[in-house]
Amino acid sequence: VMDGYEFFEEVSKNEGYKDIPFLFLTAKTTQDEKIKGLASGAIDYIYKPFSIDEFLYKVSSIINNQNIKQALYEKDKFATLGMLVGGIAHEIRNPLSNITAPLDYIRTTLLEMDYFKENKLLKKYFGYINTGIMRIDSLIDNLRFLYYKGEIDKEELSLKKIIHSITEVYRGTLKKPIVLSYKVASEHYITGNKEILVQILSNLISNAIDAIEKDGEISVTAEKVKEFTDIRVRDTGCGISKNDLPYLFNAFFTRKEAGKGTGLGLYIVKELALKMGWEIDVLSEEGKGTEFVIKVRE
Ligand SMILES: Nc1ncnc2c1ncn2[C@@H]1O[C@H](COP(=O)(O)OP(=O)(O)OP(=O)(O)O)[C@@H](O)[C@H]1O
Ligand SMILES: [Mg+2]
Repeated sequence: VMDGYEFFEEVSKNEGYKDIPFLFLTAKTTQDEKIKGLASGAIDYIYKPFSIDEFLYKVSSIINNQNIKQALYEKDKFATLGMLVGGIAHEIRNPLSNITAPLDYIRTTLLEMDYFKENKLLKKYFGYINTGIMRIDSLIDNLRFLYYKGEIDKEELSLKKIIHSITEVYRGTLKKPIVLSYKVASEHYITGNKEILVQILSNLISNAIDAIEKDGEISVTAEKVKEFTDIRVRDTGCGISKNDLPYLFNAFFTRKEAGKGTGLGLYIVKELALKMGWEIDVLSEEGKGTEFVIKVRE
């Protein structure tokens, strides 16, 4: 015949059972006995005589503990994964910039040569490479922010400066007749992190550009509304169907064809806004256009 301790020891040897919490029910109340049990890995003791309520209470508290342990484990796993993804994203950035600048030089040099000037295939291929690199670049950018762990420094940001330079960058990449304009009340400052604001606006503007099929308008505005500063990115693109609206900010939700969209953009936007304590709203009408509002609390 085994006693409780022996039974517990036998069961614990089995890989599959070793994580089952054990609660000892015993009449032995000496300190030595108690320590013997706890040392062998028992979770807790109940002493005879005991009430059923006490028993239920202990069991539920053990289950609760197990759940917390599981949640901590998941969190830890996520953090480790995040560090890995963030680290890799960072490592890909450097070689990528070693590719883009030389490639740009090669492209302009080649295409200026008489021999290659009329080579349509070459032009097309450079176009492919360029689009590919831009995709990788924006994906890496989003991954980098997915697990943004760094200290978030906040500073006074000039909305006008930031919005001016970001619209300038995107205007340079437009391949469709899109009027991209901005309007910011003269010197308007908010407190926030510049990189985060730029990342949010980049995602919203690049989505707006994708949403416009032929020609259209995109405007970025900022204005004070009560205790908020509303930053709006508005487009006259295809709009978003009511069915899609609830999923818009989910990771990996995309309506774009494979290789065009990852579905991380708005997820990142939401996460980053949350980190800053900013709210985000979306208004959209299918076939008419879309407006995203970032509400920055002063
Ligand atoms: N301004 C917009 N107008 C119309 N649809 C939009 C707009 N912004 C987002 N969407 C829709 O929401 C989806 C999710 O956007 P999100 O930015 O998260 O991912 P994505 O643009 O598809 O991919 P990624 O940003 O990772 O390259 C898009 O695929 C698109 O269908
Ligand atoms: Mg996007």
